[in-house]
Amino acid sequence: MKILYEDQLVDRDHVKIDLEDRGYQFGDGVYEVIRVYNGQFFTLREHLERFERSANELKMELSYSVEKLESLLKDLVLKNDVEDGGIYLQLTRGISPRQHNFPVGTKTMLTAYPLPSRRPEKEQLHGVKVKLVEDVRWLRCDIKSLNLLGNVMAKQEAKENGAFEALLHRNGTITEGSSTNFYLVKDGVIYTHPATNLILNGITRLKLMEIIKEGSFKLEEKSVTLEDLKNADEAFITSTTIEVVPVVEADNTMIGNGEPGPITRKLQSLFLGKIE
Ligand code: PDD
Repeated sequence: MKILYEDQLVDRDHVKIDLEDRGYQFGDGVYEVIRVYNGQFFTLREHLERFERSANELKMELSYSVEKLESLLKDLVLKNDVEDGGIYLQLTRGISPRQHNFPVGTKTMLTAYPLPSRRPEKEQLHGVKVKLVEDVRWLRCDIKSLNLLGNVMAKQEAKENGAFEALLHRNGTITEGSSTNFYLVKDGVIYTHPATNLILNGITRLKLMEIIKEGSFKLEEKSVTLEDLKNADEAFITSTTIEVVPVVEADNTMIGNGEPGPITRKLQSLFLGKIE
């Protein structure tokens, strides 16, 4: 397997991550997961723009331009013969003797490598259960940072309860999934949390909002409560890796009639149309 290591494509054996890399010690870095369909990146530019924004919000700079990164990532896909899959891309603040404040003059460390990605067909078809979990993450969830313990703990709780995803809530308001954005449908209106500091503004979310605006759907970027969830007609989640997956049960309570709803189905097929 070839790995993008700084600005070189190298064999995996050549990648050496230092003991004092700040990504390793502090989770001091940012990342992206980007989907590849039929050998082609999907929404690459959008992911790279978010990557740069996340880095800049943490006062980190990419060591080279987004254009150069784009061309190196395309090379990475080509050299690894990625047909259907994804790329994991990460930037850390780099190596320095351990101290909390930013070291001076440290070079950032960029790595990227292919990830296998399987479309979750069964889940897309039948819908999934979610576990409601309190959102105890920090207040900069808009940054796609490597600090994922709040997400990891929530997803684990979901798994232990036989659920596909953890649905996070803060003060009774639903924010997002542990690695997905969330949507609720009521009386023909699609609701999703506004892109504030409390959620990651998903690229799939942005793409889906384009689709919603092109079609004859009504969308409100407005948060919903746990109470609203009980009365929802439909619900679904989105991400780069899962695309659009219906949510049919939350904490053993059926959503709508317990089947994927018609608006969710329509959006699933319109989304597929964008990538094929
Ligand atoms: N997760 N919200 C959170 C907290 C996420 O981690 C993700 C993505 C999303 C959806 O974003 P997008 O549509 O850009 O994939 C929302 C990635 C896939 C991950 O961590 O594996």
